[in-house]
Amino acid sequence: MTDFFNAYEDRKMAEAYAKLEFPGTYYLAFRDLPGIIARHVSGKRALDFGCGAGRSTRFVERLGFSVTGVDISESMLELARQIDPMGDYRLIGSDGFASLQNSSFDLIQSAFTFDNIPTREQKLGILKEIRRMLAPSGRFVNLVSAPEIYWYEWASFSTKDFPENRNAKCGEIVKIINTDIADSRPVDDVIWPDSDYRALFAEVGLEVEAKYNPLAREEDPFEWVNETKIAPWSIYVLKSIAAP
Ligand SMILES: C[S@@+](CC[C@H](N)C(=O)[O-])C[C@H]1O[C@@H](n2cnc3c(N)ncnc32)[C@H](O)[C@@H]1O
Repeated sequence: MTDFFNAYEDRKMAEAYAKLEFPGTYYLAFRDLPGIIARHVSGKRALDFGCGAGRSTRFVERLGFSVTGVDISESMLELARQIDPMGDYRLIGSDGFASLQNSSFDLIQSAFTFDNIPTREQKLGILKEIRRMLAPSGRFVNLVSAPEIYWYEWASFSTKDFPENRNAKCGEIVKIINTDIADSRPVDDVIWPDSDYRALFAEVGLEVEAKYNPLAREEDPFEWVNETKIAPWSIYVLKSIAAP
């Protein structure tokens, strides 16, 4: 794949995204995370991989973690630092994660980032680094879009103009419009079904300890579209398979 565009490198998109907190379908992505993290993670050292403008980093910090956010988009990181001047936000460039130590995090969280990593090789390379940086009892919480998010309408997203999303196979580009932000240009994501994620995780020695697909409830404070019946997000909790 050669023509994937990381929309978050673009300043206008970065600024629009930086204003986003947890409305609508995003509320559902984060609603159960405190409980999931409390259930699976012990220790307080965290890395937020693909931190963007820091929304997900600040979320983890509020749970009591000492957290470092990393991203490849300087536009997003600038905004993260403006919103949270005391935060630790770092650009990861061509040297990858070289500045981050082995086995140094109890929690590595990635919120939506894998939707924007175009190739299998890149995903594998990053997963290997994540495994390297996880403490022996650490957990990797990987929040990604379920394929269904690209097929239906949602409180915060529209995909009705992209019927071709339905035929996209693993690794192909799908389009989605975020209706909660001021920038209504479609974003390119890469579709990656559950079985393909599981194959990647196994290849780098990560085991799925649990997987959650939260559904919305009537008592949630939003007007839902399909969220009560169809889960838009997948949350994988992963741990390292011990070396034999
Ligand atoms: C959809 S945004 C999510 C940001 C943040 N996690 C949140 O929940 O608000 C995805 C972020 O992943 C970043 N990203 C994409 N590819 C990346 C990579 N290879 N390494 C680090 N960050 C990456 C993008 O620049 C973007 O800021």
